[in-house]
Amino acid sequence: MQAIVLREIGGPQQLHLEEIDAPVPAPGELLVKIRYAAFNRRDVFIAQGLYPGIVFPVIPGSDTLLGMPHYGTFAEYVALPASNVFAKPARLSDEQVAALPLAGLTAYRAVFTRGRCTSDDVVLIPGIGGGVQTFALQFAKSIGARTIVTSSSDRKLARARELGADVTVNYVTSENWSKEVRAQSDGGPTLVIDSAGGATLAKALDIARPGARVVIYGGTTGDATVRPFSIFWKHLDILGTSMGSPADFSAMLQLFDDTTLAPAIDEVVDLAGVPEAAERLRAGDQFGKIVVRVSAATSA
Ligand SMILES: NC(=O)c1ccc[n+]([C@@H]2O[C@H](COP(=O)([O-])OP(=O)(O)OC[C@H]3O[C@@H](n4cnc5c(N)ncnc54)[C@H](OP(=O)(O)O)[C@@H]3O)[C@@H](O)[C@H]2O)c1
Repeated sequence: MQAIVLREIGGPQQLHLEEIDAPVPAPGELLVKIRYAAFNRRDVFIAQGLYPGIVFPVIPGSDTLLGMPHYGTFAEYVALPASNVFAKPARLSDEQVAALPLAGLTAYRAVFTRGRCTSDDVVLIPGIGGGVQTFALQFAKSIGARTIVTSSSDRKLARARELGADVTVNYVTSENWSKEVRAQSDGGPTLVIDSAGGATLAKALDIARPGARVVIYGGTTGDATVRPFSIFWKHLDILGTSMGSPADFSAMLQLFDDTTLAPAIDEVVDLAGVPEAAERLRAGDQFGKIVVRVSAATSA
């Protein structure tokens, strides 16, 4: 079968298209043919060597807990536990549904299971260009919450407004983005969904409203130096989250069945276009998900 293989660290250019043996499913597993898969930041971190415990060769494609140490979804076939296979929402196309697994699941759990988002919330979603964050915005809007998003790019902020963002702030060109967010949120956000980490997380804690929940699922910009006073004086709830449970996954799929939501897809590339797409992701150029066309519908 054709697959993208990483055999050494060195960034996106080390992601090569190769012919390799298809996996043989173990008892209780299914052999699944992949038509479309999606990039996640983790795939780029692994190619850059910025991930612990890398074991070569890596087949990237990090949906459903694959993509290292297990072979990932950037291959024509994967072997999966049968219990991890779900029916797709009928409303969505194959390429749309490929955008969902890791990012949709992470956002669903962050917003609803951990964040307990309601229509009364004012939700701050920093770095809206991120694949998970675009889902977080859509999920929060689907129940009528007020949303404030930030981005380094006015183009991405315009896309976010199309998805329903109520307030948009450019964290690069705005003189003081956190002050602007506080001014626009009637005393600060009541819920923060963050994966930027670093100074972004520290500022979000400073402007969060008393009693707010701050949900963290990533640390793209690194460690944060936070003010304990902001946390204890305002009785903030800081909630970590990673991916989600089978129940979260089913509920996320159900949301797409029950609404008119569609994932934000930045572009669809062929397997041969994976290195270039990984470079775009590394540079943060994308808005939403980059989807990879792995195999044609007709070939068996
Ligand atoms: N724990 C889990 O289960 C889990 C699951 C998925 C992802 N993650 C982690 O979550 C993070 C995002 O993943 P992803 O796949 O959604 O990544 P992504 O699509 O590559 O998005 C990263 C985004 O981070 C934003 N960003 C960068 N610097 C920022 C700053 N200073 N302030 C605010 N935002 C900033 C950028 O937004 P703009 O372009 O709008 O500026 C960028 O588009 C990664 O660290 C990833 O490893 C964790």
